[in-house]
Amino acid sequence: MNITIIGGGYVGLVSAVCFADMGHFVTCIENNPKKHTLLQSKEVPFFEPELSEKLSHVCNADRLTIAPGFTDNDFNADVIILAVGTPMSDSGEADLTYLFNAVKDIIATAKGADFERVVLTTKSTVPVGTGRKINAMIQEAQLSDKILVASNPEFLREGSAVYDFFHPDRIIIGTDSTTVFETFKQLYKGLHKDTRPIVHVSLETAELSKYAANTFLATKISFINELAILCDQLGADIKQTAKLMGLDGRIGKYFLNPSPGYGGSCFPKDTHALQSIGKHQDVHLNVVSAAISANDHQIHYCISQLKTLLHGTVADKTVTILGTSFKPNTDDIRESASLKLIDALLSDGANIQFTDPKAIDNTMALYGSKVTPFSSSYNAAENSDAIVLMTEWNAFRSLDLPRLKRVMNQANFIDFRLIYSHDELSSAGFNSYILGKGHHRVPQNVSSLN
Ligand code: UDX
Repeated sequence: MNITIIGGGYVGLVSAVCFADMGHFVTCIENNPKKHTLLQSKEVPFFEPELSEKLSHVCNADRLTIAPGFTDNDFNADVIILAVGTPMSDSGEADLTYLFNAVKDIIATAKGADFERVVLTTKSTVPVGTGRKINAMIQEAQLSDKILVASNPEFLREGSAVYDFFHPDRIIIGTDSTTVFETFKQLYKGLHKDTRPIVHVSLETAELSKYAANTFLATKISFINELAILCDQLGADIKQTAKLMGLDGRIGKYFLNPSPGYGGSCFPKDTHALQSIGKHQDVHLNVVSAAISANDHQIHYCISQLKTLLHGTVADKTVTILGTSFKPNTDDIRESASLKLIDALLSDGANIQFTDPKAIDNTMALYGSKVTPFSSSYNAAENSDAIVLMTEWNAFRSLDLPRLKRVMNQANFIDFRLIYSHDELSSAGFNSYILGKGHHRVPQNVSSLN
């Protein structure tokens, strides 16, 4: 099939490359000149495992074309996919400027174009009712017999986006038309045969299902994060508690990992957007609001534990941060808890040394000389007063703890991702704090391995 994808960002580029990899012929439109030039030279503007290799492969096979703008040729496509950004506006709502501009562009081009029929679908996360608004614009332009609107929300995760694209838990198609649904069945026919169901629902249900899933996952994280704080007070173990909860099939074991708070381009944005959608309908979504405020609180709680370990203040102390990306296997730092930590530490007068396997450039672009980057954890720990493990990259899972301690000024280790145990840390000579497992200080008379 022929597909045009508008937007070469996360969702757009991954979808374009993966649809082309499945054998479709794809045009990906990216109007940002810098990104367009990069993509044309087969370079991915961000880090995502497997994507670079696949981009080169599908471009070399002439199944993916990168274009700077929408033209009447794009009406040769069976499906036009809207994958432009829908960032959070100041009010917390999704900003649909890019999306509606793209629709206006399509309508203006359609008026002079000769084509029979095309499906126009959203893939970006859009507020409930957006598909109807697009439909109304198309009706007003008297194009509704030629441009058929659908919603096909994307659930891929950064860091495993290519895998997720090929192994979706479900494919959701929101449309009023069974013919359009059949088009999507063809589009996804090439997916692995263990693929989960492709489901036909209304536009509204499809749009809501994306917010519902993301907000529910965010709520699960906020729930376990609040319990982690409670565990610190009770002397219970959050890791074991989460594991025991997850053994109940009704709860499930995923998304119960305590953390300094969820970040990224989706959960913070989508929880706020769903809250706004509720407000517009006079429905106060109490659970969603609580999940957001628990997430906002989480980093403050974490910072207070760091201060406790440092006897009350971080001023003039050197703190080493392991990981600034919002999760492993990405260079994305958007809404990362590490940024909130860095901001707080800088305003309290701390010196910051950090390392991250992929996000150093993005972090430096934001902070410049205010922070000091290192390519290895051991260099980042030199002369430091505390290490804070913020992102659970593999590179931080098997650290040589005695070696780290040797280069530090003070032996304090804070683990907000529950990678290490107090036993491991204390036998290397560290005073430690582990989220949901409390504080542990090395007794004065116990000599370390150092
Ligand atoms: C999310 C959704 O998972 C995906 O389906 C959707 O399409 C986009 O948003 P993503 O933001 O890429 O994907 O990452 P995800 O793995 O969901 O993690 C989001 C945040 O939650 C990260 O900051 C992560 O560290 C945090 N998290 C995740 C936890 O704190 N604990 C967990 O148990 C899981």
